[in-house]
Amino acid sequence: MLMKTESEQQTGSQYPESNTFSKQDGVVRKSLVVGCGAYLPENIVTNDDLAQRIDTSDAWIRKRTGIRQRHIAADGELTSDLAAAACKPALESAGVDPEEVDLIVLATSTPDNTFPATATRVQAMLGITRAAAFDVQAVCSGFVYALSVADNMVRLGQANTALVVGAEVFSRILDWEDRGTCVLFGDGAGALVLKSGISEAGANGRGILSTHLFADGTHYDSLYVDGGPGTTGQAGFLRMAGQEVYRHAVHNMAEAVEIALEANELNLPDIDLLVPHQANIRIIESIGRRLSVDSDKVVATVGSQANTSAATIPLALTHAVENGRVKSGDLIAMTALGGGFTWGSSLIRW
Ligand code: UT7
Repeated sequence: MLMKTESEQQTGSQYPESNTFSKQDGVVRKSLVVGCGAYLPENIVTNDDLAQRIDTSDAWIRKRTGIRQRHIAADGELTSDLAAAACKPALESAGVDPEEVDLIVLATSTPDNTFPATATRVQAMLGITRAAAFDVQAVCSGFVYALSVADNMVRLGQANTALVVGAEVFSRILDWEDRGTCVLFGDGAGALVLKSGISEAGANGRGILSTHLFADGTHYDSLYVDGGPGTTGQAGFLRMAGQEVYRHAVHNMAEAVEIALEANELNLPDIDLLVPHQANIRIIESIGRRLSVDSDKVVATVGSQANTSAATIPLALTHAVENGRVKSGDLIAMTALGGGFTWGSSLIRW
């Protein structure tokens, strides 16, 4: 016979007590961000390193993308290794014991294997024995998608303590002969710890205020891998129509932030920190200009980390937190666009 946990005995369910608070009380259950962490592989590859192998130059890469270098995973270093290495400092900074975690949502397009979910291997590596664990695949928007899923589960009372992770080894799906793509990406992982908490209703209360998700599959062929663990029967490489992606990235990411602000009855000047997906400094600056956000309020890590797909947002946010750029009460706007196209945004009151 299965033994019931203390929480189950209290609620009669495997899930924590559901949301019994409403706006009428002036308070609501929200997901509070209580910790964050990041991991980048040791091995750094500079633009000059690449220029020795393919027909490119440091000057071209910097001018067109802002990228100076990228971290590349060591042989045998997997997405799960990077993810677990990011989760450990995230849990430490949150003061959360791994056993408290009851949900792991991991965003990746480079899972260790077709199945099981990489999240389950991360769970085992962290010594977590009772939690729901699964992967979310929305390419570079994956972290915003994963955050949305976790936030909804926490607010519904289906989880109390969640790890939301973005982790990638894009170096394994790059065509290292294709200078149009291989110079753009890197490997890395970042994680946030969410905890269920009671917060002031509305946009002034701490926690995740909203997530907005979008997709338009008519752009499937603009950014894809031509094989892999799908049903095409061949190993594949990343293929991208760069300018097509660029155009949609600026428009859709900026619009997703505007939609989020409107939904929360907030305005552009309310943004304290903009954390956009890190693909190209020109895209990041264009979004900042369109949203009239001063450059000192825009986080840019693409220069030293390149595009780590689903990992860029938690990596950038952790970088900002560690550098003292985030203070209690700040409004943080996050936005991403990736293959599919998928895109989305999230607002957090820190
Ligand atoms: O995370 C998912 C989202 N991804 C993105 O947001 C990426 C969006 N796209 C971009 O960031 C840009 O389109 C790129 C950085 C990929 C390309 O920049 P671009 O200004 O659009 O350059 P382009 O593709 O128009 O290429 C210009 C020239 C071409 O040569 P020609 O035809 O003018 O002679 C390319 O062959 O630059 C050449 N080129 C390069 N030259 C040196 C392309 N890649 C390289 C390279 N080194 N690595």
